Amino acid sequence: MYPIVRKEILSASVKLFDLKAPLVAAKAKAGQFFILRADEKGERIPLTIADFDREQGTITAIFQEIGAGTRLLGRLEAGDAVLDVVGPLGVPSEIERFDGPVAVVGGGVGIAPIYPIARALKEAGNRVIAIIGARNKELLFWEEKMAAVSDALIVCTDDGSYGRKGFVTDALKDLYEANKDLQRVWAIGPMPMMRAIANTTRPMGVPTIVSMNPLMLDGTGMCGACRVLVGGETKFACVDGPEFDGHLVDFDLALKRLAIYRDEEKRALAALEHHREGGRCGCH
Ligand SMILES: Cc1cc2nc3c(=O)[nH]c(=O)nc-3n(C[C@H](O)[C@H](O)[C@H](O)COP(=O)(O)OP(=O)(O)OC[C@H]3O[C@@H](n4cnc5c(N)ncnc54)[C@H](O)[C@@H]3O)c2cc1C
Ligand code: FES
Repeated sequence: MYPIVRKEILSASVKLFDLKAPLVAAKAKAGQFFILRADEKGERIPLTIADFDREQGTITAIFQEIGAGTRLLGRLEAGDAVLDVVGPLGVPSEIERFDGPVAVVGGGVGIAPIYPIARALKEAGNRVIAIIGARNKELLFWEEKMAAVSDALIVCTDDGSYGRKGFVTDALKDLYEANKDLQRVWAIGPMPMMRAIANTTRPMGVPTIVSMNPLMLDGTGMCGACRVLVGGETKFACVDGPEFDGHLVDFDLALKRLAIYRDEEKRALAALEHHREGGRCGCH
């Protein structure tokens, strides 16, 4: 069992857990993820390692409650434990020292996985410009943590309730106008956001890394659930990624694949709500 040593509610639907997982914490690197199962009936949920503390033996996960699995997870409290944690999984981010500025862009819950990448880039001696964005002020988190590992931080909200009004892509365009020597962009967030960022940087000719979050099952490259098309080649996000060249990813296909189980997921969510209201549906 893997105890939850701290829980923080970052917004109505976004929760943070510090999990005691010393073996994962000992090896974790920026860009990697883990797969957890809350209990023996629970789904496998892949989550990015948003932070780690090797001395305490903890890893930090930040997750958005979107379906039945993450909603059940969000009901756990500090002192509870999850059944399995498998990781660290995936290829770590390629961190190097660049001659000019680099940008990291985190959208919504993507702010969590972009943080360790920003920190690693800063530690490697880069000039890091961070852009974080959310639909509104309530959904923003880790502004101070991001500021601490960046040379400049631009905060955007879609509705203008905080920071600059507008999308992260608008902020990135302005950033490029002021920094034509921009060397690289990392973008993590919802797939439509990562697609928009890749479409923005393609004409600029700035190499862009995105972190794909397809459906996953085994996390070992065996089941094929997480396949993505990159430059016409099939790749498995769990073992070849999750980071890929954003200019080569087939986002249209990736978005279609993400929607494959939408009806089943809706049914699972409805059953969960039914249980919460005290109903019996015989689904367990
Ligand atoms: C490598 C990796 C790292 C991830 N890191 C994080 C993270 O740090 N924080 C976080 O909140 N989420 C992260 N995710 C996404 C997270 O795993 C899913 O949100 C979760 O598995 C959904 O489970 P569920 O049972 O709650 O929802 P489901 O019932 O499975 O799905 C509900 C709805 O969400 C959509 N959906 C399902 N899976 C995904 C997905 N992978 N991405 C986007 N939409 C999806 C479905 O199409 C459906 O509409 C990551 C995914 C991957 C592959
Ligand atoms: S999750 Fe099964 S191949 Fe990647």
